[in-house]
Order: sequence, then C-alpha cells, then structure tokens
Amino acid sequence: MKLIITKHNLGLWAANHISARIHQAEKNPFVLGLPTGGTAEDMYAALSSLVQNKKLSFQNVVTFNMDEYVGLAPEHDQSYHYFMNHHLFSHVDAPAENIHILNGQAEDLTAECAAYEEKIKQKGGIDLFLGGVGQNGHLAFNEPGSAFDSRTRAVQLTQNTIEANSRFFNNDVRSVPTQALSVGIGTILDAKELLFLANGPKKAQAVAQLSKEEITPQWPITALKTHANAIMLVDEEAAGLLEGKAKEELLRQQQENPDGDWILTL
Ligand code: GLP
Repeated sequence: MKLIITKHNLGLWAANHISARIHQAEKNPFVLGLPTGGTAEDMYAALSSLVQNKKLSFQNVVTFNMDEYVGLAPEHDQSYHYFMNHHLFSHVDAPAENIHILNGQAEDLTAECAAYEEKIKQKGGIDLFLGGVGQNGHLAFNEPGSAFDSRTRAVQLTQNTIEANSRFFNNDVRSVPTQALSVGIGTILDAKELLFLANGPKKAQAVAQLSKEEITPQWPITALKTHANAIMLVDEEAAGLLEGKAKEELLRQQQENPDGDWILTL
C-alpha cells in the first residue's frame, strides 16, 4: 500500500482522484464504495461542486455505502442515509436506483446484509472503495478483532466508537446506537482499489500502526497493507506518530521536497 502524506486538502485530493477514475473507466457503471464521517465532508463538497460545474457526472456511477446504524430511520438527522443525502446525493445527478445504503431498520438484519453482498456482486464488484478510519483503527464499523475475511453483517460498536461518535448526538453517549450494519473487511478488500482518509492528531495512533511490521485484526487499519492497490491519504498531524523507517523516509522526503506530497510504500 501507499501512505500519502499531503499538505493539500484531503477532500479535494480525493475528489480529484475519484473524478479521474470515473472519467477513465471503461466499465459502465463504475461502482463506488462510500463512507460517512466528518473526514468525508470536504470530499463530498468537492465532488458536488465538480458536478455542479459540469466537470463530473454520477449518471453512470453506482454507489454502495459502507455502513448504517441499526434502528435509526432514514430521516433521522444522524442516520447515514440522511448524511449522504445532505452531503452528496441532493447535490449530484446520481439516479436514485443506483444508490445503495444498508437498511438499519430491516426486520431481518442477516437477510439485509446477505442481499447487500449479492447486489455488490451483481454490479461486478466495487471499483473504488473510499473510507475513513476510526480512532481505534476501525474501517467502516469493523471494530478491533474483526476478521480480515468478514462480510457485511450486524456489529456491536465499542465504547470508544460510541464516545467518539457522541459528538454528533449532542455529546449524549446514551443516544448513540450500540449496533450497526457494516460491510466486512473482506468486502472492502475485494474492491479493485482503496482510498482511505484520516486527518488530525486523534487518528495518529491508528495511522502509526501502518509503520509497524505487524498486520493484525486488533488494528483493522492494517488490513489495508494486504491490498495490492490501496492508498491511505493523511495530513501531517495524522502522520505525527509514524515510527522507524517510515518516519525516517518521511523526514527525508520532507527535506528534499518541502511542499509534498510525500509517498511511503509500506
Ligand atoms: C464512523 C464511521 C466510519 C468512519 C469513522 C471516522 O465510525 N462508521 O466509517 O471512518 O466514523 O469518522 P470521522 O471522519 O468523523 O472521524
């Protein structure tokens, strides 16, 4: 995988990358995996403005979101349905039938997850999966301990994630759902390309795991190192705790080229 440290806006960087991939695509439709979370907001703003300026279209794009809270209605302002509509889908020309988000209110959650995996297969798999990273290194809602071959399923959120996400629920830990539906790490790793983003000092400990030898389900982020075509894009703060050779190589590149981007192969 490549760890890219940039001084530029992560969202703009990612939106330009996505736009280039959609334009280059020979496959129709192009299938995108999409995240929610504060880190993704700039990316969605940049994608929306590309579409509004007629530089990009979602007409031939199919999307699959990574996760959704169990029990929240799509109209709930903290549901991921609401987030996606608010930040992206109400601003772009994606046909409604091309948008897929897990239903956290399904009566049979197991069947909902199995059907989601099936739909991804029917669309020919995910071409580019975007994502963020939790403070504890989670990918989507794959909490520490999730198997690297896990598939879409109902998961229990850890206390750490509930506390981290309570900032979106008026800092009331009790109103954060304790369960979610999430694509698995295996579902993510099946994508042809991965682009994950992390910014700020709170993500530095998780990002630092990429500079260590060990690849372990205790740090789901390290699964990215097993993928042949993965980019982890971070700002300087999130790269602040890198260790060993990765840290040395970053310092060397920063001296040689102070404006970046700095690219580490891990
Ligand atoms: C949630 C989402 C993850 C996301 C994480 C980080 O837990 N399920 O997919 O990566 O938040 O969010 P933020 O970008 O707000 O830090």
